[in-house]
Amino acid sequence: MSHKTRFVALLAAGALMLPLAACASTTPGGAANCNVGITMPTRSLERWINDGEQLQKKLKDAGCTVDLQYADNKVDQQISQIQNQIAGGAKILVIASIDGTALGPVLEEAAKQTVKVIAYDRLINGSPNVDYYATFDNYKVGQLQGNFLKDQLKLDSAAGPINFEPFAGSPDDNNAKFFFAGAWDVLLPYVQKGTLVVPSGKAPKSNDEWTSIGIQSWQSDKAQAEMDNRLSSFYTGGKKVQAVLSPNDSLAIGIVASLKSAGYAPGADYPMITGQDGDKANVKAILAGEQAMTVWKDTRKLGDRVFTMIQQITKGEKVEVNDEKTYNNGVKVVPSYLIEPEVVTKDLVQSKLIDSGFLKASDVGLG
Ligand code: BGC
Repeated sequence: MSHKTRFVALLAAGALMLPLAACASTTPGGAANCNVGITMPTRSLERWINDGEQLQKKLKDAGCTVDLQYADNKVDQQISQIQNQIAGGAKILVIASIDGTALGPVLEEAAKQTVKVIAYDRLINGSPNVDYYATFDNYKVGQLQGNFLKDQLKLDSAAGPINFEPFAGSPDDNNAKFFFAGAWDVLLPYVQKGTLVVPSGKAPKSNDEWTSIGIQSWQSDKAQAEMDNRLSSFYTGGKKVQAVLSPNDSLAIGIVASLKSAGYAPGADYPMITGQDGDKANVKAILAGEQAMTVWKDTRKLGDRVFTMIQQITKGEKVEVNDEKTYNNGVKVVPSYLIEPEVVTKDLVQSKLIDSGFLKASDVGLG
């Protein structure tokens, strides 16, 4: 190589190094160790699309390498996505699991490669190789739903009996257990007293029996079919359902569709239905009087928290958590950061969801 070509080659190498150096200064702990694999359950639910894209953007803006994958609610697909991320050099995995008990072997592989694992929103069970958990206070989500029904139906003073139908989330999702327990701790005493009656008989006798009314994969159409069955078998002779515990918005969509096809319309005889997430279709349903509330989880806050965790990991700092007792995954208590959920009703849509920029007014037909 002549002096001249060597000089040009050096210049080119220098030019190549410049953006890397610039990157490293804005990257949490340097670009090299900020290589993140994100796996989300499905694109069929609005919240997971927002969750994934927001976190990906934040990390990319900070100069991290990011791979974001969705698995169509298929466990095997999610496992192979995680395997590919490990093989591709990811140093941190952010996983919103489909089945919280199915990831043990792949996380063993991650641990061998000293990859850190953050369970995102849903706990990963049965594995020692889960380093942190970032989520909303899932028990509180259920409590907010239960207390909403208790207050709105005035269960302490109402004579009853009030016709009520409870639903629970996907049996493979650890969160669903917490949502149900939070709501059932409030509502079960009123079922036992007879203020609430469950004509379908589908009222778990204890929190542990929640899977008996769980809707697999949180599917709207399965919730709709279940509600259709309950209405056609147990609501005959003019009997009307007055309240439904729906643990999230995707189930509420199915329940509302079933009610509509059975002839229910918003108004005095329309049942009170709960939800969770603040999806656009459900906010529209709230504004139309078809759903009474949703428990809003500002997923931007969850993304910000996970971003902070990643920064702390890459800088070798202590990772901040605020709960070290609630989330035992069967092998260990996973250090967790819990974020507060909030109730949104019709009169709070503007101030909570739109003014904060979570949704656009035009998304929900307001302006
Ligand atoms: C999440 C909820 C979501 C549900 C269905 C749960 O694990 O916490 O926000 O509605 O999954 O995807």
